[in-house]
Amino acid sequence: MRTFDSTSADSATVGPLEVARWEQYGLQATMPFGAMWYTVPAGGSSPRDCHPELELSIVIEGTAFVESNASTVELPRGSAILFDSAEPHVISNRDQRAPLTIFSAYWLPLEPTASSPAQAGTREEELASV
Ligand code: NI
Repeated sequence: MRTFDSTSADSATVGPLEVARWEQYGLQATMPFGAMWYTVPAGGSSPRDCHPELELSIVIEGTAFVESNASTVELPRGSAILFDSAEPHVISNRDQRAPLTIFSAYWLPLEPTASSPAQAGTREEELASV
């Protein structure tokens, strides 16, 4: 068993975010996904993110407002959200006093999907599978 402490993890500033990536634990050879904690400052928002990996995010502290494909959902502490491959997302912290902290795990699709450009089949194959 190993434990990981977000409060003592090495982190880096990425735009307005403070990001602590799990690469620092040297688990790449044994874990089939990447992971990180990130903190959105009071009143701040993440840059628009979009990537081929699926991403499972869990709110650790605060309340997240998550915008994706023109809709916004409120995600209280303890809730989780799954972004599909290539699904754009912006995470906002509307609290003007307290930071928002999220844990995210991300991985490439296990099977090809229409929304994962790197692994998508031809247009004809996609249509045939609907
Ligand atoms: Ni993302």
